[in-house]
Amino acid sequence: MKVTTKTFLEKKRKGEKITVLTAYDYLTAKIVDSAGVDAILVGDSLGMVVLGYPSTVPVTLEEMIHHTKAVVRGRKRAMVIMDMPFLSYQTGIRDAILNAGRALKETLCDAVKIEGGVEQSETIKALVDAGIPVMGHIGLQPQKINVYGSYDVRGKGEERKKLIEDAKAVEEAGAFAIVLEKIPSELAKEITEMLSIPTIGIGAGKHCDGQVLVTHDLLGLFEDFKPKFVKRYAELGKTAREAVKTFIEEVKEGKFPSKEHEF
Ligand code: KIV
Ligand code: NA
Repeated sequence: MKVTTKTFLEKKRKGEKITVLTAYDYLTAKIVDSAGVDAILVGDSLGMVVLGYPSTVPVTLEEMIHHTKAVVRGRKRAMVIMDMPFLSYQTGIRDAILNAGRALKETLCDAVKIEGGVEQSETIKALVDAGIPVMGHIGLQPQKINVYGSYDVRGKGEERKKLIEDAKAVEEAGAFAIVLEKIPSELAKEITEMLSIPTIGIGAGKHCDGQVLVTHDLLGLFEDFKPKFVKRYAELGKTAREAVKTFIEEVKEGKFPSKEHEF
């Protein structure tokens, strides 16, 4: 059975953990979907992981739509959530509805994700009223990197109260779930207990209702840097490099192709 916003809420009620992983293409979507994740996030991390940008800020709506279409073609069961990129929703409710509406209509994804708490609550409400399910995202919001000046942990000291207000505002606006990125584990626990919608953590500790990771981090494919919250379950980057080296050697030595590959 296909995973929907209803499944998310039911899982929280039953105390079952929710798993979310990113994908940006057909092949990866097929792998994580067939392995059984609940949702596939087409994150704007696309910009850094696959397109080589220095941050998520340059990612365009066209790029997100292009990659989300490929992901939708590769999934059977998981919910597909598309990240709304920088400047596709911050400029007003009308822009947000038109752009998020394009995501749903053109890619056939199931929901969108937008970064921001209190400041985006009216937009979240308008999207949900228009029929567009929204996943919220508070704590570290990478689209605000130029304001922050660093990817440091959020919600410490004075900011703790602000984050609790943000979480409440996102739930009240009608979001079906909320990502908590890079905040203290104890704060994530408090927010998780306070909200009736599921919290999906990344760098937010084990008390969240679910966890999300960038698949290319989990697989050890993305090697530019490794955040503290990442666990590598494989070293596919190394494996791939070794395979390519062996190919190069075998071609040079005349070992490949051999008889079995000939016509
Ligand atoms: O873009 C992304 O991959 C994300 C997740 C890390 C939550 O927003
Ligand atoms: Na993102």
